[in-house]
Amino acid sequence: MMKKFATILVLLTILLKVSDGEGRVVCYFPSWAIYIPDNGKFQAKNIDPNICTHVIYSYIGLNPNGAVLILDDWEHTLLEEVAHLMGLKDVNPDLKVLACMGGWNENSAIYSQVSAHPEKRSTMVQSVLTYLQKYGYDGFALDWEFPGQRGGDSDKDSSNFVTLLKELKTALNAEGLTLSAGVSATPESMNISYPDVKAISDNLDQINILSFDDGYSAGISNVDGDIKRWLDGGADPRKLNIGGSTYGRSFNASEATGTLGYNKICQFDSDWKYVWDDKLQVPNKIKDDQKIVYEDAKSLGIKADVAIEYNLGGVAVWSVSTDDFLGLCGDSYPLITSLYNHLN
Ligand SMILES: *[C@@H]1O[C@H](CO)[C@@H](O)[C@H](O)[C@H]1NC(C)=O
Ligand SMILES: *[C@@H]1O[C@H](CO)[C@@H](O)[C@H](O)[C@H]1NC(C)=O
Repeated sequence: MMKKFATILVLLTILLKVSDGEGRVVCYFPSWAIYIPDNGKFQAKNIDPNICTHVIYSYIGLNPNGAVLILDDWEHTLLEEVAHLMGLKDVNPDLKVLACMGGWNENSAIYSQVSAHPEKRSTMVQSVLTYLQKYGYDGFALDWEFPGQRGGDSDKDSSNFVTLLKELKTALNAEGLTLSAGVSATPESMNISYPDVKAISDNLDQINILSFDDGYSAGISNVDGDIKRWLDGGADPRKLNIGGSTYGRSFNASEATGTLGYNKICQFDSDWKYVWDDKLQVPNKIKDDQKIVYEDAKSLGIKADVAIEYNLGGVAVWSVSTDDFLGLCGDSYPLITSLYNHLN
């Protein structure tokens, strides 16, 4: 009787652990943050590997022939930032480090041409695999922004994208490596770039919804819509990581005036008024005719709770470099810590 009871207890504990403690906190690391002056400067060694479950080195590029393009050779070979990222695994052996190819500044047309061409695709798959293994990465993230858009082929890219993912996943999974991709969730992108959501989900291990790239969409209703569009299309919820940001957008009376990291925004205190926007569920800071719409520990905690409610994999945050990593306004890393604590 006691033995049976003990077995049940152990089983219950395991079950609780699985359902309660696996939330992903995917931290994008923009490698150019090493060039930011003063206390904005951010390097691999500044990452806290105990609150990010995944770190995504951003970015590498793509050559027109399909081969990996190292965008910043100085930082790769002299500063050895990638090696420093791998060193974080000494602190947390469960940390996964992925390499991200693409981003907003990459030419979508090159991805269109490579994905359309069987030999170039095969060059890409081989080159990615070689690159990942050379540096000891755990996986690859493809952030093609976006199939069929911004110079791509609006008829053929969406199906070539799936073919490319399929070939990448087969090759990477065979070596124990993970494949993820950053995707948009606007209704327009769903039509042009991702008409077959189920095929995309089947050929990926993780999907990062880059809501933060779709103009300003921090609002909770937007996040809800983004998740629903991917789930309704047939995505596996456990593969989805919803986007969260550590920066805000500033506006004056007439227009949007720029973006600012949370590590700067949190210092605007004495003459700025904090106002919580109940509809969007995000904070604002207001001074005269200037307004900053951003994310804080509270709004990101709400986003993490939404991810849990939908049984998603977790949250992908752009980026690790603009949280208050130095603790200039209080405890260090308040935003990513909030995500981690809600999800784990
Ligand atoms: C997407 O496609 C559907 C079906 O073709 C159409 O009804 C809808 O208006 C399109 N939405 C956008 C934003 O293009
Ligand atoms: C808003 O900011 C823009 C860009 O900085 C500037 O050109 C414009 O004059 C500003 N408008 C107001 C009303 O302050």
